[in-house]
Amino acid sequence: MEPTRRPWAKVPSRSKLPGALSRPRRSEEAAIPAAISPESWAYAESFVEDDHIITRARQRAEEVGAAPVGPGAGAALRVLAAALDARGVVEIGTGAGVSGLYLLAGMRGDGILTSVDIEAEHIRLAREGFAEAGVPHNRTRLITGAALDVLPRLTDGAYDLVFCDADKAEYADYLVQAVRLLRHGGALAFDNALWHDRVADPAQRDPETVAIRELGRLVRDDDALLPAMLPVGDGLLVAVKRDGDAAG
Ligand SMILES: C[S@@+](CC[C@H](N)C(=O)[O-])C[C@H]1O[C@@H](n2cnc3c(N)ncnc32)[C@H](O)[C@@H]1O
Repeated sequence: MEPTRRPWAKVPSRSKLPGALSRPRRSEEAAIPAAISPESWAYAESFVEDDHIITRARQRAEEVGAAPVGPGAGAALRVLAAALDARGVVEIGTGAGVSGLYLLAGMRGDGILTSVDIEAEHIRLAREGFAEAGVPHNRTRLITGAALDVLPRLTDGAYDLVFCDADKAEYADYLVQAVRLLRHGGALAFDNALWHDRVADPAQRDPETVAIRELGRLVRDDDALLPAMLPVGDGLLVAVKRDGDAAG
């Protein structure tokens, strides 16, 4: 069960992270920025504001405890979908549809979002949000089921973007599926990659933290993936699936 996501306006300073740097010496200054203040963090996180439809979807998400992506991660997903000119996106963990609304807004007008969730009620709420946003029915394929039962039925290499935000213990399995589902040049994204400040702290050894840390290692060590850790919201790990002959 995911701990309640903090409101983004109250995200703590990176300076409170274990191992965070105090103000760097002058010689380090060019390479390492000073720890970001809570004000800058909140400013960055709310730089792109939610519209009223996403705000309502967040309220539905809160009612059922399906912690949605924050505005920073949502905006990053929307940019990613737009940059890829995404026609086919897979989402693992529909929740009440907040991330889906961002993804659909970034995708091509004829793009289809395939989204999987184990909870039928969450899918129902997401459907409500998509209808409210005027998303045509034929742009969403919402599947109720366990991710690892559903994903193997989806076609290899057929998707531009795979976004993972369901069971953290299964993240390594989602990675295998995501790499299989993506076309070359497509991208994957995992939410909660910093997992409430726990991933960066080696003293934290709970199963979810260990699983997310292991996911990071797998993504970083895979030569076929070009990764970046985006410190938005609770951390968004992104990577592009490169062509086999891409130079390192
Ligand atoms: C954090 S919420 C997703 C929030 C959503 N991405 C958003 O931003 O609005 C996680 C969702 O994953 C679903 N879930 C958990 N385990 C799952 C599994 N094994 N297979 C499919 N869905 C799962 C939960 O029902 C929940 O709706």
